[in-house]
Amino acid sequence: MRLTLRLLSSVVQRRPFYVTTPIFYVNAAPHLGHLYSAVVADTIQRFEKLVDPDCEVIFSTGTDEHGTKIQQAAANAVLSPAEYCSKISAEYRDLFKDYDVEYTDYIRTTEDRHKRAVRHFWNKLLEKDYIYKSQYSGWYSVNDEAFVPEAHVRDEVRNGQTVKVSAESGHKVEWTEETNYMFRLSAFKSHLQEWLKNDGVITPNKFQKQLQDLLENETYFPDISISRPSSRVHWAIRVPGDEDQSIYVWLDALINYLTVIGYPDNDAMLKKGRPWPADVQVVGKDILKFHGIYWPAFLMAINWHPPRRLVCHSHWTVDGSKMSKSLGNVVCPRATPVSPSALRYMLLREATMHDDANYSESKAVNIANSELADTLGNLASRCCGAALNPRGEFPPLHTHELAALEQDVSAQLMDHVERLHEVCYGHYRNYQFYKVADAVIRTLHLANVFFECHKPWELRKKLDGQKELDVVLHITMETLRICGIVLQPIIPDLSNKLLNKLQIPLDCRSWQHCEKPSWRIEGAIYETKNILSGKFVLFQRIYVDKKQKKKASA
Ligand code: ME8
Ligand code: MG
Repeated sequence: MRLTLRLLSSVVQRRPFYVTTPIFYVNAAPHLGHLYSAVVADTIQRFEKLVDPDCEVIFSTGTDEHGTKIQQAAANAVLSPAEYCSKISAEYRDLFKDYDVEYTDYIRTTEDRHKRAVRHFWNKLLEKDYIYKSQYSGWYSVNDEAFVPEAHVRDEVRNGQTVKVSAESGHKVEWTEETNYMFRLSAFKSHLQEWLKNDGVITPNKFQKQLQDLLENETYFPDISISRPSSRVHWAIRVPGDEDQSIYVWLDALINYLTVIGYPDNDAMLKKGRPWPADVQVVGKDILKFHGIYWPAFLMAINWHPPRRLVCHSHWTVDGSKMSKSLGNVVCPRATPVSPSALRYMLLREATMHDDANYSESKAVNIANSELADTLGNLASRCCGAALNPRGEFPPLHTHELAALEQDVSAQLMDHVERLHEVCYGHYRNYQFYKVADAVIRTLHLANVFFECHKPWELRKKLDGQKELDVVLHITMETLRICGIVLQPIIPDLSNKLLNKLQIPLDCRSWQHCEKPSWRIEGAIYETKNILSGKFVLFQRIYVDKKQKKKASA
């Protein structure tokens, strides 16, 4: 009996939710684009936990540390590759901490656990006869760490010289002739096409379509090289049994997603319920082909499923150009005029998955000031502040006074608040975080209108105005509570601060708690509750210009 129960509970035991970011090259310090991918993945995992607080999440990120590109960057920095990698990898880790990227696993491809996984994977491919040796000649882009087919190479004049570049990325290519191990990618063409027929495996659909077209139109679907001579690429994992060859950095890198879940040690994985296929893998559109073609093919070759879903995002640009080191236009997150929470908010508020978004300092400052400081923060300060709320209360809702409120304005606000959870749930599920922010801000605009319209400062002076004032404060605070819950995945620290101020218990902050505002709970008994005492500034306005600040405080 006991045994059956145990078996049963292990069957129903749910496997963890697994979400990943790309692992980032350590050839330079992190910039806004890298941070964006990490923040997107973090928002996804936070939403998952918000909806289902019991759900276990594995959220991995980390750094990609092998290959020519890193080898060269270390040499330029006059450091050993190992020292150099540790230094930059730590910068990524620190950055993510500061931006509330709550990863559960930070993987570096130079770790032993990863090398073991890669060698094991290689041997599996070999065992299944998907690897063969061949003489390779063709173009290679160090920047992309990719072989570029002749048809995708074009001439470009740079500094008066004609150079060969990859048409796809614009990065320089160089001619290479070497002996390589090849992977039989061509064997997987129709399997990949089948896989790509499933709706939603790549989100947004535009990118799934791109891959379908690629497979359709690429008349020649070649095998790919998966090793390089060790004499050229020494900073890499060696091919098992062949010291003269190093494993191609992209094969090495992609396997990180398996290393994190304990591959090849099946026991450790199965104990938790194997978290594969990964639920969501976040990637930028620059590496879509690696994740949407090579990665599923590698997995199919060892009889593993492709990921459940790739969420592919577009790029951050500066003055319309992709942020990149060679253009010298990278934005260092720490060098922006706004705080981590405001920058995180801007990244999610401004970017859509399907189109590029443009960064500017003034945009970051304006969004932070108008939405976080004014629309949200100022409303919170007003209804919590001593002028209107001297006793520091979340006051009760008096039904008689509620009915007497100005009808149109209150009805419109209350309707928005009631539907907010439903609207935002859909947007979160579609990875449209900008729409979540937009819906919340619209609701808060209405709350500001509602607040102004009922002139709480006059109610406060009126002899018999207390009950009406209570109701106005209650509805506003209830709106703030619900918006605070909804915003948690996007701005965790500010939401936290707001919910703490309103003294919302920690176990009353999950998604179910934003599904019904107080006035919709039948038979509820309303009591006065205390809020946290003290002056409340949720978000300090940013003054780029010092004179502006003086004027404002005068
Ligand atoms: O490609 N806008 O690493 P990488 C938005 N190591 N996102 C951007 C961006 C921009 N301007 N620039 C970069 C690699 N990103 C490999 C990945 S995974 C097994 C190996 C983000 O350091 C985006 O997610 O070049 C992009 O795909 C990733 O950083 C590339 O980072
Ligand atoms: Mg790159």
